[in-house]
Amino acid sequence: MRTVHSLKELRSMLRSARQQGKTIGLVPTMGNLHEGHVSLVRKASEAADVVVTSIFVNPMQFGANEDLDKYPRTLAEDQDKLASAGNTLVFAPSPEEIYPEGLARQTKVVVPDVSESHCGASRPGHFEGVATVVTMLFNMVQPDFAVFGEKDFQQLAVIRKLTRDLLIPVEIIGAPTVREDDGLAKSSRNGFLSKQERAIAPVVYQTLANIATQLTQGRTDHDSLEREACEALSQAGLRPDYFNIVNSHTLEPATATDQEITLLVAAFLGTTRLIDNLSITR
Ligand code: PAJ
Repeated sequence: MRTVHSLKELRSMLRSARQQGKTIGLVPTMGNLHEGHVSLVRKASEAADVVVTSIFVNPMQFGANEDLDKYPRTLAEDQDKLASAGNTLVFAPSPEEIYPEGLARQTKVVVPDVSESHCGASRPGHFEGVATVVTMLFNMVQPDFAVFGEKDFQQLAVIRKLTRDLLIPVEIIGAPTVREDDGLAKSSRNGFLSKQERAIAPVVYQTLANIATQLTQGRTDHDSLEREACEALSQAGLRPDYFNIVNSHTLEPATATDQEITLLVAAFLGTTRLIDNLSITR
């Protein structure tokens, strides 16, 4: 497995792979890899000859008061995990390599509608940053397909839309959320939790599962279910940002007759913001 830091090296490595007729799969990440990320790499390596994992803590998708500076950077450990998961090439560029003229002068990709609600409402500019860097990664790597986790359900919807709208010839593949034994979705941010907070964190998934059960049992009073979910989170010591019951395809509030439904949640535990989701068919 090779690691490259510059676009020039990346392009020359991929040029020869492409000339040999090899298929290329891309797994974009911000590093500090866990089993969730590794599952995406394994999925990519089942389908592609060459798997490129990018590791780039993208400054454009962090708000001014967010955790850009303290976001963990663990390249050596990440490389070990990737090598044993069937990865071929690591692309770990510096911010200067990606944004040579700085963030303010960078052309951006804006994805309307699906970017605006949920996390988009709480984190202005976040999905613009994600959409921009993912589009750039697609242009840099020119993969046949790219794998993203359903853990970031809204992000996956944003990426599917931008790929469709901009006619980018990359197939988008979603992969299921990898969880801890107690249900907590694996996340690089779980490392920020204190021991006490870590003990509370599974309530996020428990609340999703509980509300999903009530929906499958026939409840359609979504507003009161959302309120009940927020109360359960608050009582456990979390600070809910939102708990929304949405149509799985549009991410708009679900109607009583929608059959494919996704529950989206974001909640703070201390200063750590956790997100999770659960999809059901009723
Ligand atoms: P990051 O948070 O590092 O996540 C990289 C990929 O791993 C995303 O597709 C995410 O959905 C997936 N992932 C995270 N936790 C997961 C879990 N528990 N199970 C399965 N997949 C999981 O998401 C980003 O980085 C960035 O926004 C990025 C797309 C790289 C753009 O900068």
